[in-house]
Amino acid sequence: MNDARTRPITAVILVAAGSGQRLGYGMPKAAVPLGGEPILLHALRGVVASGVASQVCVALPAGDDGLRKLLDDFRLELADGGPLLTTVDGGATRADSVRSALAALEDGTEAVLVHDAARALTPESVFHRVAHALAAGAAAVIPVIPVVDTVKMVTATEGGDSNIAPEIVTGTVSRQELRSVQTPQGFSVPTLQAAHQAATDFDESEAAAITDDAMLVELLGVPVHAVRGASQSLKITTPLDLIIAEGLLEGPLGMRWVEG
Ligand code: C5P
Repeated sequence: MNDARTRPITAVILVAAGSGQRLGYGMPKAAVPLGGEPILLHALRGVVASGVASQVCVALPAGDDGLRKLLDDFRLELADGGPLLTTVDGGATRADSVRSALAALEDGTEAVLVHDAARALTPESVFHRVAHALAAGAAAVIPVIPVVDTVKMVTATEGGDSNIAPEIVTGTVSRQELRSVQTPQGFSVPTLQAAHQAATDFDESEAAAITDDAMLVELLGVPVHAVRGASQSLKITTPLDLIIAEGLLEGPLGMRWVEG
């Protein structure tokens, strides 16, 4: 990390307002137990342990008292000198949740890391790499990992071929230049504010196509830098992801803390 005097005043926005429908637990994803504790608690501990933020603003599902109580209890757990922990009601989309939290950051916040609570096992080193790039002058930085599978483009099959298979390959993408993108994604606050401001004019289908914050920054023409992410920083989305995350937590190798 850069010297503390040159480090920007940094907040983390932790987005935890998703419904978690694909996980199938009938409760918000952030509340689903992982190793006996809610996913949100793991994510919070990771953010706080990284030491990158003076404020952590958590976007929670509106009206979820259970997660609010969890946050209150966690606040008591925090040692003196820990980050300011605040909450906002999340919105209908992830971008809405980010926008609400962005509007609730402390005055004077210079940099912000936006992190999915669903990436409950992100190692501290990833937070540090993103924060370091911001301190070094990047306006936008994302953690990425290589794409391991061969990637192809397909289209729906028509005519007689549709009896064989529903899709047909139209081409193969070179994976050399492809990366899977993770969070935390880091931005200078004015950059992220401008990016989300521009998105307020989007129509429904454009809004639905926004899957991360860096996309919006790219539309502004601001360079987005990429640093190394970590494979254990998976986004818990499906029941299989939850099984993998449980294995990472409880495995004999203590995999949570292994880089790669
Ligand atoms: O739905 P998806 O897995 O892409 O969500 C990524 C992250 O964004 C999750 O941590 C989820 O809680 C959060 N989210 C949110 N508000 C929404 C939708 C998703 O905070 N409306």
